[in-house]
Amino acid sequence: MMNVNDYIKQHIRTVADWPQAGIQFRDITPLLQDPKVFRVLIDIFLARYANAKLDLIAGLDARGFILGSVVAYELNLGFVPIRKKGKLPFTTVSEQYELEYGSATVELHTDACKSGDRVLLIDDLIATGGTMMAGKKLLERLGATVIEGAVIVDLPELGGSKLIEESGLPVFKVCDFA
Ligand code: PRP
Ligand code: ADE
Repeated sequence: MMNVNDYIKQHIRTVADWPQAGIQFRDITPLLQDPKVFRVLIDIFLARYANAKLDLIAGLDARGFILGSVVAYELNLGFVPIRKKGKLPFTTVSEQYELEYGSATVELHTDACKSGDRVLLIDDLIATGGTMMAGKKLLERLGATVIEGAVIVDLPELGGSKLIEESGLPVFKVCDFA
């Protein structure tokens, strides 16, 4: 029988040359669209974090919102969005970072968490690691402890997950694409 990680991986679509030439885009929409697969995925995260004594889930714009909010709801935790620049209405902290295809800035409301909060940071994918590192820095600037970075997909050849782990943040991924 196929293991659960391969089952999830089978439902991720690869789109060549998107959003620009040379990028193999790993598209999770087929996975989200199938209720059986979506449930298997969420159950993997719930099993891992049920007893993690978390205070909060933080999700990265945009696909981290889809996963993070469901996990937060099921674990009876609050959810905070880390958003691309210019979207959050209240006072924010912000961090700039480099992507596989360009650069960006993410922001977090200054009252999103309290000093000492144990936070799980969720996104769909780690490529260069820039997005997750920026999210970690924002949460840490507010005094939170980020206990793990969780994703569906890691692209290990881009070195992002290694960088993140070297910074002291453990990474949990469901599958990877070499
Ligand atoms: C993708 C992906 C991650 C990020 C990973 O989002 O959903 O958030 O890139 O790349 P990194 O590890 O190199 O930082 P993207 O920035 O394309 O934005 P989107 O969610 O608005 O599509
Ligand atoms: N974000 C950065 N690189 C990506 C890729 N190859 N697929 C999906 N999302 C990404």
